[in-house]
Amino acid sequence: MSKKSATQRVTPVNRAGSDPAFFSCWDIHSYYGESYIVQGVSFDIREGEVLALLGRNGAGKTSTLRSIARVDSPQVTHGEIWLDHKPLHSMKSHEAAQNGVALVPEDRRIIAGMTVEENLILSQIAPPIGWSIERIYEHFPRLAERRDQEATTLSGGEQQMLAVARALARDIKLLLLDEPYEGLAPVIVHEIERIVDGIKKLGITTIIVEQNAVAALRLADRAIILDMGQVVFDGLAQEVLDNEELRQQYLAI
Ligand SMILES: Nc1ncnc2c1ncn2[C@@H]1O[C@H](COP(=O)(O)OP(=O)(O)OP(=O)(O)O)[C@@H](O)[C@H]1O
Ligand SMILES: [Mg+2]
Repeated sequence: MSKKSATQRVTPVNRAGSDPAFFSCWDIHSYYGESYIVQGVSFDIREGEVLALLGRNGAGKTSTLRSIARVDSPQVTHGEIWLDHKPLHSMKSHEAAQNGVALVPEDRRIIAGMTVEENLILSQIAPPIGWSIERIYEHFPRLAERRDQEATTLSGGEQQMLAVARALARDIKLLLLDEPYEGLAPVIVHEIERIVDGIKKLGITTIIVEQNAVAALRLADRAIILDMGQVVFDGLAQEVLDNEELRQQYLAI
């Protein structure tokens, strides 16, 4: 991937006088081997905010989430990542998880050969523990109905619910959702949207990556658009909804 000189670098919105951001990443650069993918990404998020991270296929959205979650690849070679005053950039993925980062990847990472309930219990194997299993069932009645069902036999929408519920079973500070609506029928998308909206109302700081940009923007307070591994827009979600040129240029919607 080549560096795009025509693209103006966008630095995070300067909020002079406001509290330091709850989450911030500053000038992160990441590589898969020799492939230079995340090319100086910076943005910040206030506590309780929902941020939509958008961009075309291959723009670097998943790589950015993986960089934040500190998984081994891509390798972050430069930059700082802070969550609630803790330096994620100097942590391994398990330490980032202990410090409240929860990545719900596209493949949802449901554990085969185990029931719904066993999947939930396994999330609580180590502290910090979040929601109780009872509380999860109150918020996800569908999972309660299917508690004894083998988790991989759930529908796509139910598996997405379980993946989110597994994140909430831990005490999290930052939820990273990678394409939670992918492969789901519109009616199920609405159901997951309601769940994410519920999470937002609980004040959980969230980054949502979605191809379904309009759905993500409906939920989000703010939006970042990535193109070729760089931030090309940082602003209010409503500004993206209102700006057809921006949507056509970077989102093809
Ligand atoms: N494991 C990998 N090894 C090498 N290159 C990779 C790897 N994973 C992703 N890439 C490359 O990194 C670039 C960004 O990929 P990434 O998955 O972050 O994009 P994305 O914005 O999430 O795209 P999509 O919308 O298709 O999910 C792409 O060019 C992709 O081919
Ligand atoms: Mg992706």
